[in-house]
Parts: sequence; C-alpha cells; structure tokens
Amino acid sequence: MHNTVKVTDKVYWIGGNDRRTSLFENMWPIPNGISYNSYLIIDEKVALVDTIEFGSSDDYLDKIEELIDGRTIDYLIINHMEPDHSGAIKTIVEKYPDIKLVGNLKTFKIIESYFGYKDKWYQIEDGDELNLGHHNLKFVMTPWVHWPETMMTYDLTEKILFSGDAFGSFGTLDGGIFDDEIEFEEYYKDEMRRYYSNIVGKYSNMVQKAFKKLEGIDIKYVCSTHGPIWRNDVNKVLSLYDKWSKFETENGVVIIYGSMYGNTAKMADSIARKLSEQGIKKIRIHDASKTHISYLINDIWRYKGVILGSCAYNSEMLPTMENLTRTLEHMGVKDHLLGLFGSYSWNGGGVKALHKFYETIQWELVSDPVDTKGIPGNEAFDRCESIAKAMAEKLKE
Ligand code: FEO
Repeated sequence: MHNTVKVTDKVYWIGGNDRRTSLFENMWPIPNGISYNSYLIIDEKVALVDTIEFGSSDDYLDKIEELIDGRTIDYLIINHMEPDHSGAIKTIVEKYPDIKLVGNLKTFKIIESYFGYKDKWYQIEDGDELNLGHHNLKFVMTPWVHWPETMMTYDLTEKILFSGDAFGSFGTLDGGIFDDEIEFEEYYKDEMRRYYSNIVGKYSNMVQKAFKKLEGIDIKYVCSTHGPIWRNDVNKVLSLYDKWSKFETENGVVIIYGSMYGNTAKMADSIARKLSEQGIKKIRIHDASKTHISYLINDIWRYKGVILGSCAYNSEMLPTMENLTRTLEHMGVKDHLLGLFGSYSWNGGGVKALHKFYETIQWELVSDPVDTKGIPGNEAFDRCESIAKAMAEKLKE
C-alpha cells in the first residue's frame, strides 16, 4: 500500500501532509507545512488512534480500507479533540457505525458539543487498560497539554507512546517519517521549538506534570500527532520538550524592536555590535513589525537574553511590540535576562510601557533602560553599550 508506513508489525502511520494551509489555527505561518499523524493498530480488534484535519487528505479512508481489508474499526482512541485531529470523526463514524469512541470525561464534554454520538462513548479513566488481542493499551491522563482533555495512549506490548500534540512539530514529513530518516537538526529542530513555544508553551507546567506521569515508563517509540515518529533517539525529543518546558535556554541574545523611522532600529544594531565585541556569538535581531510573532517567541524560548526596544507611539509602545509583550505576559514566560531601550520624538512613552511589562513579567533587568529623544547620538549609544556589557557579563556568569 502506498502512503501508509509500518511503525511496527501491526501498527501503521496513516497520516497526511498539509502543504496548502498558510496559517495553522488560522494564526501561525507554516511555510514548511505540517503533518497530521493518525495511526492504525490492526490486532484481533482494530483501533484507530486520532484522525486528521477534515479534508486534509482525500485518501485517508482508502488507506484504512486497504489495511483493514474488509474488517471494521472497533475503537477510535481520541487523545485530543482539537479539530486538526478530530476533523474526520464524523466521516469515520458514518463509515464504521459500530465503532466505539474512546476518551475521558472531558473528551466527551467536547464531543457532545461537536458531534453527539452518546451511544458510542467508551469512557476510560487514568490508568485504565484496553486489550486489543496482542496489544494492550494503557491510558495516561495528561490534561492541559494544551487542551483540558488531552491524554496519551501507551501500548504496553510494543512500548509505543501515542502522545497527541506533545512532542509534535511543524513541518511536513517529506519522505522521511522516522527520526533516523530525517535531518532533524537542520530542518525540524527550529520548527519543533516554534511549534512548542507558540502552541504548547503556555502550559509548560502541565508538560512537566505529564513528564512526572511518564516517569518509569519504557518508551521505544514516540508517535505524536504532528511531525516525525521517534524510534532511534527517543530521549532526544523527550529531553528537548523537558528543557523547553523548564524554560532552559541557550547563552545568546534576541533583540526585538519596534521602530517607525529607524532610530530605535539603530540602537538595536548598536547593542548587537557591542554584544558581539563582548564575545557573544548567538545574537538575533528582529523587527517586530516585519517578523511574525511566532518567530519572535521561538527565539525568546531559545535565548536567555532578551532585549526589547520600542519607539513611542501615542505615548505607548508601538502596537507590534505591545502585541508581543502582552502575549509573553499571557504565556507566563519565565527566566530571562532583560534589557530595554527605545526612542521618541516628543514626550516618550514606549520605554515607559516596556518598563511596565518588566514589572509584570519580573525577568531580571540587567541595566537601566535607555530612552532617547530624536536621532540617537553618542550619549545614547554609550548607554546602549552599557546594556550590552551588562547583558554579556550576566550571560558569562
Ligand atoms: Fe494538533 Fe492541539 O491540535
């Protein structure tokens, strides 16, 4: 069968790639696309693990039909009810009307408002098991990663963790499906962090709770709902998610600014140059008015140092910076070193607003904020250098 992939002898990947959608969740740019991973376990009983986004793969049903060869599907295990995985539930139920929908109480509270199907509910609780014949599945409740009903399904027989969105990534599967078939560092790692930080990151404490639930479980395969399947270096994906959910960062600096006429931008370049002279090699500068916020958040999740700049706009920050700082507050991002700078033409306000952000987020402010009137001159650049030096010193500690 084309376009189905054996994970193990009786477990198949039947997902699909989406290269058409521009904005995932109508919000996040996906220039590299995304995969929706669905899995089929063919045993004495047949179980489907999650479905795909409605309409994302027109041969989804054909793949199932060919693999089950005239049999029916006994169970649809719903690890996550978000429509990018539950979109095909109606189609599946209509085709296999005797199917049982397997989920927890919170799953069914959502299903009720989407589809109904009360007569098909097969409610499980944390730690319950479901025997398919050879395969024995155990359900692990991992709520709020990143919806309330999220859970994982662990195949005790072959030690496969069907993890839902956890351990997922942006990026389609271009031929390589498994971690040992792809160039993870070059192609996926950055997109995986961008996926984690923007989609799941707000719930990092719940990711840590999920890790506690998984402690002691022998995992040979990680089968997420997006991105590659892990079978060769499972610890790699587990440790990346562990690190990101603990807000562990690299020793580098991201400078993000909002600038209308280039004065604040000049200060950003000046700070970056001085950081470089201090020996910092990992430095990224973004113009918040041009670069999508998901990339800004990705770099904030990556680097310990965050230096934010804004010109004044109606006595506040530039709205693009306001959007960024409000989102960071909403996400509760932790543990960064912070520097602040900006400029104004009449009575200021941008840097004052950035300082209010600092008071809320409570990162460590490495140096006094720099606010300058008009075109920055030597005095302003000297003060920018102070931010760079203080940041570099903290990073070297
Ligand atoms: Fe991939 Fe939360 O859905």
